[in-house]
Amino acid sequence: MNLPADNIIEARGLTKRFHGFAAVSEVDLDVRRHSIHALIGPNGAGKTTFFNLITKFLAPSEGTIRYNGDDITAESPARVARRGIVRSFQISAIFPRMTVAENVRIALQRPLGTSFRFWQSESTLDRLSERVDELLDAVGLGAWRDQSAAGLPYGRKRALEFATTLALEPELMLLDEPTSGLGSEDVDRIADLIRKVSANRTILMVEHNLSVVARLADTITVLARGKVLAEGAYADVSADPRVIEAYIGGEE
Ligand SMILES: Nc1ncnc2c1ncn2[C@@H]1O[C@H](COP(=O)(O)OP(=O)(O)OP(=O)(O)O)[C@@H](O)[C@H]1O
Ligand SMILES: [Mg+2]
Repeated sequence: MNLPADNIIEARGLTKRFHGFAAVSEVDLDVRRHSIHALIGPNGAGKTTFFNLITKFLAPSEGTIRYNGDDITAESPARVARRGIVRSFQISAIFPRMTVAENVRIALQRPLGTSFRFWQSESTLDRLSERVDELLDAVGLGAWRDQSAAGLPYGRKRALEFATTLALEPELMLLDEPTSGLGSEDVDRIADLIRKVSANRTILMVEHNLSVVARLADTITVLARGKVLAEGAYADVSADPRVIEAYIGGEE
């Protein structure tokens, strides 16, 4: 059999202009199914804008996006979320006065999730509690389940955001700087968690911490000034003189 490469995302000629300024410019980018794909680049490179195009929070000025082979360029954010494209740290706000477990329960019953109808039915309310516990165990928050979310240490809040995102059963999970603001112990814990939840799903992440990128990413795309500068495995990309130059130039 001669199957084409199994890409979950295929972006072609993707461009987003703000008042004539191209924040994302003619980007071609494939994300391989079940990979961890990192998007890196200097501040202002267009990484978050690219995410917003994939989740449809922004409409592209030009170009197309295919998801599982379907053209989703004109679809609404709600529709692509139902398809399984879920961005963490944005949709999954934490309700501080609720307990940790209640936050996960609410996420499971959220209308965005593909499994929404399932969790609404009376017969599954017992299963719902089980699923809450499963998700809390998966992110290491079992011991915190009945604490208020507001009282969680910062790194654990991020783990809770993970649980509420996982509740939506994303097929493609987008993480925008998942380790930002964390101390080194929490960075390690979240990196382990990303590795763990990457089983059977695809992860596209923007990450400034290059040791996390080196450890996790199968493929890295470097953006600079809205364009793809380089792409490949960490060893290749990090040795690329254009990438080094863009990073040094970006610090000025
Ligand atoms: N809504 C907007 N209106 C106008 N300009 C915007 C808008 N959003 C982003 N930009 C500009 O587009 C460029 C890319 O921004 P973006 O946030 O995508 O960069 P980034 O790679 O995520 O940077 P960072 O690493 O700092 O998060 C920047 O120059 C930014 O000022
Ligand atoms: Mg950004």
